[in-house]
Amino acid sequence: MKQTILYLLAILLILQACNKKNVASESIRKVISFNLGWKFMLGDTPRASIESFDDSAWPFLNLPHDWSIEADFSIDNPTTPGGGALPGGIGWYRKTFTPPAADKGKITYIDFDGVYWNSTVWINGQLLGQRPNGYISFRYNLTPYLKYGQPNTIVVRVDNSQQPNSRWYTGSGIYRNVRLVTVNPLHIAHWGTYVTTENISARKADVNLRITLENNSANLRQAQLVSIIKDNDGQIKARATTSVTVPKDEKIETTQAMMLNQPQLWSDTQPYLYTIITQVIDDGRIIDEYNTPLGVRSFAFDHTKGFLLNGEPVIIKGVCQHHDLGCLGTAVNIRAMERQLEILKQMGCNAIRTAHNPPAPELLDLCDQMGFIVQNEAFDMWHKRKSPQDYSHFFSQWHERDLTDLILRDRNHPSVFMWSIGNEILEQWTDMNVDTLDLQQANILFNFASKMNKDAQSDDLHVNSLLTIKLANLVKSLDPTRPVTSGNNEARPVNHLFKSGAMEILGFNYNHNLWSELPQIYPGQKYIITESTSSLMTRGYYEMPSDHTFTRPERWDIPYENPGNQCSAYDNSCVPWGTTHEHSWQLIKKCDFLSGLYIWTGFDYLGEPTPYWWPSRSSYFGIIDLAGFPKDIYYMYQSEWTDTPVLHLFPHWNWKPGQTIDIWAYYNQADEVELFLNNKSLGKSSKNGDDLKVWWRVPYQVGTLKAISRKGGKEILVREIKTAGTPVSLRLTADRQIISADGTDLSFITVEVLDTDGYPVPVANNMINFSVEGNGFIVGTDNGNPTDHLSLKKPGRKLFNGKALVVVQSNGKRGSVEVKATAEGLKMASVTIKCK
Ligand code: GAL
Repeated sequence: MKQTILYLLAILLILQACNKKNVASESIRKVISFNLGWKFMLGDTPRASIESFDDSAWPFLNLPHDWSIEADFSIDNPTTPGGGALPGGIGWYRKTFTPPAADKGKITYIDFDGVYWNSTVWINGQLLGQRPNGYISFRYNLTPYLKYGQPNTIVVRVDNSQQPNSRWYTGSGIYRNVRLVTVNPLHIAHWGTYVTTENISARKADVNLRITLENNSANLRQAQLVSIIKDNDGQIKARATTSVTVPKDEKIETTQAMMLNQPQLWSDTQPYLYTIITQVIDDGRIIDEYNTPLGVRSFAFDHTKGFLLNGEPVIIKGVCQHHDLGCLGTAVNIRAMERQLEILKQMGCNAIRTAHNPPAPELLDLCDQMGFIVQNEAFDMWHKRKSPQDYSHFFSQWHERDLTDLILRDRNHPSVFMWSIGNEILEQWTDMNVDTLDLQQANILFNFASKMNKDAQSDDLHVNSLLTIKLANLVKSLDPTRPVTSGNNEARPVNHLFKSGAMEILGFNYNHNLWSELPQIYPGQKYIITESTSSLMTRGYYEMPSDHTFTRPERWDIPYENPGNQCSAYDNSCVPWGTTHEHSWQLIKKCDFLSGLYIWTGFDYLGEPTPYWWPSRSSYFGIIDLAGFPKDIYYMYQSEWTDTPVLHLFPHWNWKPGQTIDIWAYYNQADEVELFLNNKSLGKSSKNGDDLKVWWRVPYQVGTLKAISRKGGKEILVREIKTAGTPVSLRLTADRQIISADGTDLSFITVEVLDTDGYPVPVANNMINFSVEGNGFIVGTDNGNPTDHLSLKKPGRKLFNGKALVVVQSNGKRGSVEVKATAEGLKMASVTIKCK
């Protein structure tokens, strides 16, 4: 009896502990941002690793920080226009902090989400380690070196001087978040939980949790592990309790199984999230607490039906995204990432491929919350290099560690559905001249691969296939629940990645002429278009005839030149390996067996200015320009991918007398569009067959073009474009007029020039100067022009085809910030942003 009472008492204590978050809260995991108050020096200063180094002359800054974005663009920068024509170099960061005496006896880690690249970290002059990969997250244990109650110094050297090391803009510096994590000696290890779900039905879902506990205390420890699943209202839905014993200086893994009744499912349209709170309880006290996101979804890739989410066919309507955030460079900002995803979501996009590297962890949090189907990609190259100084130099030594860390970090995100082990890896082909693996390495691989997969014992498997098997098996050993794929531009079966048999989904980049034949070439396989299109467009720039497709460059190795370095925003210009947007979407719609596509790209990005080189410095591939302004093609996707009523009429109506202009309209939810010029009908037009638009060829006349879409004779939408007159004033439009006073939130403000009727002038290119007063500052300006060489940090910007952008960031104080725009000869404009 006494035993039963004690037992019940113990359970009661545990339950109480679980419900009261504050029980012994001072002893729970402490995670604090370590972003503020760093000192920075651009240039190499080797003595700066010494603790006593005098950094008093160095300026202060806050992380995340990208030093490259601060410069003007220049052809002299060794990154080349391919890397964004911005500088690399070497930079040093130092930060002094005082850990509280009360933390003595605890374990303190420093977590870096990503440093580009080649970082070396010291504490108090002691080397902690080096990490070449610029996209990987890593941690160091500071505990043995900490002086409690006294100043300690962390020093980070970042070496991005060896150039070019990338095919796109990377940024330089500690460009992602940094945290200090302080835990009790017995704690949940780094990335120490792994949640999976199975047997999902409307009635229930089985939730399995694997938890790794680490014991850094002097003795063997025993504890209770309690995990609770909470729904998004904070209601407890399931619970598991386990007793654990962890020997001193060891890590052990334990499992918990829970059942969720009537689970709400996660999908791209309703991304429902639960949270699992795992507590380590010692003697009734919570000594650690760790949250794991949980999304309950089932999915399959099928060789005839494509992608199925929760049993229903869903087309992956995705985009590839590089990691820069336009004028913010690569410095991570949650609002900037959220804005990109919002703009994509409004277009109907439901998927992101993190081209071609691990993303910031916050991007995946947002994808979990907003419903994106993520293909998470590890590498752009293996042993064979694509740029002279790229990751191929580090691949041999680091690929296992980097790939492992990526999977461990990201495998709890419900938004992640596929792991890509590489993009257009040159090991697709055999070329003895450039094969860098020697016989000994090949044997090691062979042994490894054959241990994991008996198919690998076939004698004719090339070393590149063995490497593929090795990487795929490594992924599967850490996460058997998601398929492994890769992006391949070699679509034929000679591809060593395909030959390996380790690709669970065959990923094709381009090769659109083969899409319809894939089931014949690769019977019974699963397929995804990992990359498509590469259409070329400048927002607001139009080249006619619009019904002719310009291939630029003619061949990938023939340089292409065209004065002004712009590309037509009618969907009529693409690279030789790509297609127009219309063409690839028309093909996808006909192939149910394809899981969907990831278009190259959602947003323009810095670097890779195909089909040009300098003076261009950013891409033309985006559906949305670098500043975040949609190009016209955005509305084609919106008309096809959403239920939002669309009628998008373009281009503008400011032309020269005598010109004949092609007028296009994207529309949906209607069966015809009628076009009027100055109230005279130019006729009705309807989409037939594969059509994705209607269009007219119209002799230009000053005035108003009006389009009306109708369904069954009933008017659905009306759109007008007018000839704009002389510019007289400015207009500022903020995407949000209330932002959080948290020091990181942003308002994105569009500036336009208006004529006397208040109508925006689409061809305006006035120079605008911005100023702010109050609790915010200008963090960047842009206009989407790939040939603008002024630093994106400058508080002035020329309009480009009628638009520019100024981005204002909260300085951490409540109040407001007033943003003013002035331009010579024009009436100024201002907007007030509240910081709450
Ligand atoms: C692909 C490559 C991308 C990008 C694109 C441009 O082949 O995977 O990274 O370079 O071409 O069209």
